[in-house]
Amino acid sequence: MTAAAPFRLGTSWKMTKTLGEAGAYADALRSAVEAGSVPPEVRLFVLPAATALAAVRDRLAGTGVALGAQNAHPGPEGAVTGEVSMSMVRDAGASIVEIGHAERRTLLGETDDMVADKVVAAVSAGLTPLVCVGETTAERARGGTEDVLARQVRSALSRLGSSRPDELLVAYEPHWAIGSGGRAATPDEVADGLATVRQALAEEMAGTPSAVLYGGSVHPGNVADLVTGLDVDGLFVGRAAWTASGLLDLARRCAEALGERRTPDLVSAIVRKDPR
Ligand code: 13P
Repeated sequence: MTAAAPFRLGTSWKMTKTLGEAGAYADALRSAVEAGSVPPEVRLFVLPAATALAAVRDRLAGTGVALGAQNAHPGPEGAVTGEVSMSMVRDAGASIVEIGHAERRTLLGETDDMVADKVVAAVSAGLTPLVCVGETTAERARGGTEDVLARQVRSALSRLGSSRPDELLVAYEPHWAIGSGGRAATPDEVADGLATVRQALAEEMAGTPSAVLYGGSVHPGNVADLVTGLDVDGLFVGRAAWTASGLLDLARRCAEALGERRTPDLVSAIVRKDPR
């Protein structure tokens, strides 16, 4: 990440929030932006349920908080009962679409093939794909983490041909670290996985602006360690950001930790200039 790139902090609300709750969250975020209490070095995004996209779009208009969908179908509009298309979520206000979250892969059978099709459809709809990758407990136990991550990244991007998104987000979210049954990871446990994701991304998408995020049990107690201890461009949060105050608290903690993280860069920049 270059020093000028904003640090991403996003949340998926997963299957939570009525319209009223979603609206209240968005109003609180809007007030915080207007009060200047969102650190400028942190760029926020929220992924409501599809039912709340348009209402949240209206409330967050002009705040700089990006809006995304948690999923969309890869096909064009038509007879696919119960699904929404990429262009429909875009029309409802999404600029990002999440693809391949661990819960969709394990609970709903989303495969690497489906992920690859969704990435193509997202790009042709003008959406920024947020591709989630991560190993299961069993894959990690047998030492397969790096192979799984490289395969998932390469496969997700394999059908793009020459088309490219304006920007690509990839979140490394180990399955064992996600959700109420998950165990928060230490930076040491996930640093190699992040490096694998970054490497595969650099090889597959050279020249396309991209950001690598980390997610899984991020909370106020570990956010500073993750920011300072990992080569990561952002964090992707579930439960700890299901309230606006939770997200804003994490944003402040990220900004503080980024200050600490950049100190060595500044020192080396100063050292490099000294000889002249
Ligand atoms: P938790 O932060 O609740 O573990 O969820 C992380 C996640 O799945 C974000 O997509």
